[in-house]
Order: sequence, then C-alpha cells, then structure tokens
Amino acid sequence: MAKVTKSFVCQNCGAATSKWAGKCESCGEWNTIVEEAPRENLPKGVSGGKGGRKIEFVDLRGVAALPPRRTTHIGELDRVCGGGLVEGSAILVGGDPGIGKSTLLLQATALLGKDAACVYITGEEAVDQVRLRAKRLGMETSPVQLAAATNVRDIVASMEAGHPPDVVVIDSIQTMYSDSIDSAPGTVTQVRTCAHELIRVAKKRGFTLFLVGHVTKEGTLAGPRVLEHMVDTVLYFEGDRGHQFRILRAVKNRFGPTDEIGVFEMTDAGLKEVLNPSALFLAERRGNVSGSCVFAGIEGTRPVLVEIQALVAPSSLGTPRRAAVGWDMARLNMILAVLEARAGLAFGGHDIYLNVAGGLRIQEPAADLAVAAALVSAFSGDPVPADTVVFGEIGLSGEIRAVAQRDLRLKEATKLGFQQAWVPRTARKAGAKGADKKPEEPKGTIALKDMGHVQDVVSQFSNAASAIQDGAFRRGGGH
Ligand code: TYD
Ligand code: MG
Repeated sequence: MAKVTKSFVCQNCGAATSKWAGKCESCGEWNTIVEEAPRENLPKGVSGGKGGRKIEFVDLRGVAALPPRRTTHIGELDRVCGGGLVEGSAILVGGDPGIGKSTLLLQATALLGKDAACVYITGEEAVDQVRLRAKRLGMETSPVQLAAATNVRDIVASMEAGHPPDVVVIDSIQTMYSDSIDSAPGTVTQVRTCAHELIRVAKKRGFTLFLVGHVTKEGTLAGPRVLEHMVDTVLYFEGDRGHQFRILRAVKNRFGPTDEIGVFEMTDAGLKEVLNPSALFLAERRGNVSGSCVFAGIEGTRPVLVEIQALVAPSSLGTPRRAAVGWDMARLNMILAVLEARAGLAFGGHDIYLNVAGGLRIQEPAADLAVAAALVSAFSGDPVPADTVVFGEIGLSGEIRAVAQRDLRLKEATKLGFQQAWVPRTARKAGAKGADKKPEEPKGTIALKDMGHVQDVVSQFSNAASAIQDGAFRRGGGH
C-alpha cells in the first residue's frame, strides 16, 4: 500500500505544505490552510499527454436542449430552483440548525413521491423519528424510501445498484463519512470527499441530489464553503427562529436566476408557502406611526413590499448606539452621514435603531430612500403617510438615484392599495438626445412624488423642515 502522507493546502493560493500553519507562507493569508485528501487519492497528473484520448469538440452554434424539469409541487421551492428540479443536478440546502431544512426536504420528497421515486437518507435522526415527523406533517402515506445511513460507500453502492431513484436527499452532508479517509465526519476533507462521491453518482445515474448542510457560527457551511463550487445550485434557508417566516434564497444556480427567494411560514403542520409575501410582511403594520416606512423592493424576479422601522432616541451614552436588523450597518451609517451633511439633520447624540419587519434581510441599495424616510420620520415625530411606498438609491452628495424595475415595484404597490409613491426623479425632463424616454407609468391610481435630493425627503416632514430652519433641531423628537 502506498504511504499516505498528509497534505495541507492553502485555500487561497493553492500552495501545499506538509504541516499546518496559521499563515500561508506563499500568499501571506491567515487561516486559509486546511488538510486535504492525501495525494494518492487524487488522479495522477497528466505527464506529457501520453496515452490521452482525443476529445470530441462540438460547434457552439448547435441547438441546446433545455434540461427537463421536475416539479416538486411546492411552488416556492420550484421557483428558487429556477422552475423545478433538473435531472442529475446537485442542490445544496444550507441554513442554521433548527431552521427547517429537514422539514422542507421531507415535505418536498413526500410530495414528489406521488410521481417520482424518492429516497431520504438521514444521518442525524432515526428512521422512526422521520416517520413521526412525516405523520405530524400529514404525509405518512407517501411512498418515500427512508434509510438511516452515514457511510458514503454504502450509499453510493445502493445508488449504483438496480433502478436509480429520481430524487435523493442526504440529511446532512456533515454527518456522512467516507472510510477511505481517516479524519472525522464534518471535517473539510470528509465533507468534500463525500459530496464529490455523491455528486458523481448523481450525475452518472441522473437523479437530483439534495445535500443538507449546516451553517456554522461563522456563517459558512462547515467545511468552509467547500461545497458551493461543487454543486449546481446553492440555496440558503434563512429566517429568525423567533419569527415564523422562513426565506429560501438562491445564491448560486447553474440552471436559473440567483437572488430568487421563496417565502414560507413555519406552522404546527410544517412549512406553508406564502403566496403573497408583501401582504404578510405588512400584516402587522400600524398606520400613521412615526419611524415606519414601506419599501417597495425586488427579491429575485418578484416585488416584495416590506416595512422599515426606525427609532431615534436621545442617548445617554458617550458613543450613541447604532443597530440595524435586516440591513447593512455600513449602509445605515452612510445614510445617516448623508442626512447630516446634505440635509442638516444632527443625529449625533441619538441612539438609532433600524429594523426590517418580518425578519427579511434587504440587500438592495434601492431601500436607501425608505431607510432615510424612516429615519427622518422617527427623528421628527412626523409619520410617513400610511398609504405611501418609497424606493430609491441615495448617493453621497445627497442625490436620489434611479433604481431598476420601477414599474414592477409600482404595480405591486398599486395592487396592495397604496395611493402614493416617493420615487427617484427620472431623467425624462432632460429631453436631450440620448436621454431615456419617459418610462411608462403603470396604469392605476398611484400618485408619484419625485425626489431628487435628500432635502426633498426632509421637506415632506413639516416638523423636520421647520426645525432645521429654526436651527433648533438638536434634541430630536420634534415635540
Ligand atoms: P428542522 O427541519 O428539524 O430543522 P433543521 O433540519 O434545519 O435543523 O426543523 C426543526 C424546527 O421546526 C423545530 O424547532 C420545530 C419546528 N417545526 C415546526 O414548528 N412545525 C413542524 O411541523 C415541524 C416538523 C417542525
Ligand atoms: Mg435537520
């Protein structure tokens, strides 16, 4: 037997060493060196191209066949996968422990079981536990094949024998191990080797493979992101455990768009699809309260209206507190700085809290204007009119910039009964050649208020505007 030597490889530059070190000698990065499979397990190098076979080239112009899709009977899951499952593809479902990954995949396989051969392999629970859960979900009659197994060699052998299944779920990849490697399950080498083996057999046998992966405290999948490049689709299941909403987000998809989201609600009987997320995110909103503003956002291909809440209160601390939930902290600080420098609001000496209601996380800069409106409203004590939606990006000089998919946002707002929208001023007045032609405004009754600068936002709040004029806006609160 060949001597097995350990090999440590820098994940940044690929340099190999024989022992672990905190810092990579060749690129200088810290904490990038991980133990990898011994060389002997890897394919031998191609020495001089001898003995290689000639590969067949085909013309790029040929007609490509679209991969056939299998519906999971869960619309939100289909959407996030790009319109259904693709044969032979591997889908990684990541998320915090307890967020509902097993529940989602058990529901999906139970529904898929109606017209496909499904296999659910669990390395975390006993078969009876899965049965009990299926019963709780009301899906105990579905013909899904269950197994409790963790040895990948056994799993691969079972998949290669007989008629292949259509869908296989591995829950979770961190509990799987390959006996050809002597490191513990869940380590980088194990996770990578097991995933590689399973993906290979999925491609060969043409079944769709779901891999469940737990996110570690650092927010990466254990076996730091080693799986993301190996699979075709990466979905993250997110949400606050305190909230019942769960969001399934596609962050990579070789067979569809990314940034698509699916919205679910965790109930006593499992996950329920939320077909109208806007209505749900706005359900608990109280009208005419200061510091609240509705943002018309886009998640993937879908418009989503969500409430942004701000609280501005005089601080007793030397360094006032700034906190944001569901929104980037750096972006909040930038907007505060713009409001201070370009609109004369003095937020210094105030604690500031920002929250995106419902547990959604917003990444779009298009929410800047809504964040600013919520902040100014909280600061002045004047509410944003309850029937108003807001969107627009804010630049450092205080200008409001146009954002994509204006019509879609307005259409959704109109559908939900909003009467007014604060939107970026468009280039239509320029009239110069080459300027964008006037965008088609959606039909409906929504009244548009153009915003060109953050000062236009501030002037919507009478308390804020008059207080700045008086120079008396040091204490905030408005009244
Ligand atoms: P689970 O799918 O086990 O999470 P993961 O596989 O991501 O670790 O979900 C567990 C949580 O979901 C648990 O806290 C209980 C809750 N839950 C419900 O609220 N309703 C249900 O019908 C089920 C099955 C679970
Ligand atoms: Mg689980």
